[in-house]
Amino acid sequence: MQSTNYAYVRGQVLPLEQATLHISDLSIQRGYGVFDYFRVFDGRPVFLDEYLARFRASAQALHLPVLLSDEELKAVIQELIHKNAMPASGMKMILTGGYSANGFDLAEPSLLILQQPLNLPGPDMLEQGIKIITHDYVREVPRAKTINYTIGIRLIEEIRRRGASDVLYQRGGVVSEFPRCNLFIVTHDNTVLTPSENVLLGVTRKHVLALAGKKYKAAEDTVTLEEVYNAKEVFLTSTTKRILPVVQVDERVIGTGKPGEVTLALLQDLVRLEEEAGAREKV
Ligand SMILES: Cc1ncc(COP(=O)(O)O)c(C=O)c1O
Repeated sequence: MQSTNYAYVRGQVLPLEQATLHISDLSIQRGYGVFDYFRVFDGRPVFLDEYLARFRASAQALHLPVLLSDEELKAVIQELIHKNAMPASGMKMILTGGYSANGFDLAEPSLLILQQPLNLPGPDMLEQGIKIITHDYVREVPRAKTINYTIGIRLIEEIRRRGASDVLYQRGGVVSEFPRCNLFIVTHDNTVLTPSENVLLGVTRKHVLALAGKKYKAAEDTVTLEEVYNAKEVFLTSTTKRILPVVQVDERVIGTGKPGEVTLALLQDLVRLEEEAGAREKV
């Protein structure tokens, strides 16, 4: 049984204990960097090309060159999958500003790739749904998956204190996203809506929008906090959560207070899509 976990750091595949960065790295000095995260299912990355494309778009938004081609990245990913032999996992690719001489100017970027075990939400969470709170915030570069989660992490204490599981960002009564997930609402005429502005273009969001469009009216649009409070169903999407029902927002109960049928139907459709894609995808 394989017990050592390996990671890729600046050109080398190393055991995790040796997988370190120098303190001059701009991620440490200034929180400067981007990342992406995809799931590995039965030893195969799921929707890898979509995550690689977003990783490159995030890197470009922060003026960070990705020094490896997609083929080279896939070869490293394959090597880690083989060496780590983890059954259910996610893989994180991180690209930082590099070892900066003066702690501010960009240097040659540091590329890191690591694999971590991953547990998807259990049946309890799916049956009960979660409570969320809201907070006035918009991410600085919303289209980029930046490594800076200061506000999200600072809010963990308040989320727990208020008996919630996550926080939805809003500004001026218009909602955007969660620290690590996208938002969807289902209106009383079964229209599926997700915010169009100030959001990360989630891979799960894209798939859920397409799946929803096959059965219901579905669109990206401005979504207000008032519309969230009055929605028939609310749910969040992400790679690590798939679809998670939201049954309370601040002190307002959503719909019947139980996960809705559109939410649960879309979750089944998503699981099926992932299985089909996972079975096909080759690195
Ligand atoms: C800010 C933000 N929004 C949305 C998402 C969900 O995106 P995906 O479905 O691609 O995981 C993430 C993922 O971490 C995120 O960081």
